[in-house]
Amino acid sequence: MRGYKEFFGITGSPFGKGIATSTLHRYAQFEELASYLTWVAEEGSTGLVTGDVGAGKSTAIRAFLESLDERRYHVCYVGNTDETRSVFRQMAWGFGMRAKHLKGDLRDDVHGRVMAMWQEHGKRTVLVVDEAQGLGAQGLAELRLLTSFACDSESPLALVLVGQVQLRQKLRNLDNAALEDRIFLRYHLAGLSLAETRAYVQAHLKAVGANPDVFTKDAVNVIFQNAKGLPRRINKIAILSLLKAGHKEVNPIDAALVETVLKDLMQD
Ligand SMILES: Nc1ncnc2c1ncn2[C@@H]1O[C@H](COP(=O)(O)OP(=O)(O)OP(=O)(O)O)[C@@H](O)[C@H]1O
Ligand SMILES: [Mg+2]
Repeated sequence: MRGYKEFFGITGSPFGKGIATSTLHRYAQFEELASYLTWVAEEGSTGLVTGDVGAGKSTAIRAFLESLDERRYHVCYVGNTDETRSVFRQMAWGFGMRAKHLKGDLRDDVHGRVMAMWQEHGKRTVLVVDEAQGLGAQGLAELRLLTSFACDSESPLALVLVGQVQLRQKLRNLDNAALEDRIFLRYHLAGLSLAETRAYVQAHLKAVGANPDVFTKDAVNVIFQNAKGLPRRINKIAILSLLKAGHKEVNPIDAALVETVLKDLMQD
């Protein structure tokens, strides 16, 4: 039996996670966010990026970080944020340092390294804390300290907090008022529009050598409505539709086929 790849003439892994930065889909919000984040890095400011689960936050951040000039920035990405994790500890690892046990020593080490990067190497540290909605009291306290590292006249650190929408509420909590007050830029990554969803699906298909119009217009409408334009959900529906259509040898993929995939998905 022919596989779906053969049936659709697909050469790679369609709608997969490991998509190269150069082939990412650059929709309007993606570009806008990139330019805002570039500004945050250039100014040593603090930004907050929110979005629903699977909205493309980490992907947009990855592209932004890769775009930074290594000669001017030291990138520190923290992606583990459960209650017990220390941001300082993860930063220390990122700097290639041994993380000291005593909290005060660890803080001083990280502080010292951020300042040395700035004063001796002319590099600003760009700290991204992804999944920041998971930060506990310790992590948030560390971030408050970090944002006060900077003297008023110079900012050796740019901070970007990334997370689901409940992060906003968490930051509004009285204890975090100092941190919230420092946030200069807030950006909400909403899902793709219908037209963007169409372009997104087509770009993904093209990238793996398939006919970009494998999905009919109505099929894309159904994907868009169900996924609410969220890339991870679009990917899931699209790949399952390709599998089903490949198995049934149906081409193009119409709305009815996508509906059956959605019915299967609802039984999850
Ligand atoms: N600009 C894009 N171009 C191509 N694919 C994308 C793009 N943005 C997101 N995706 C796809 O959508 C998937 C989900 O995106 P991502 O992991 O960035 O979402 P997230 O908002 O960080 O989700 P979570 O809230 O679960 O952390 C990615 O694995 C990728 O396959
Ligand atoms: Mg993410």
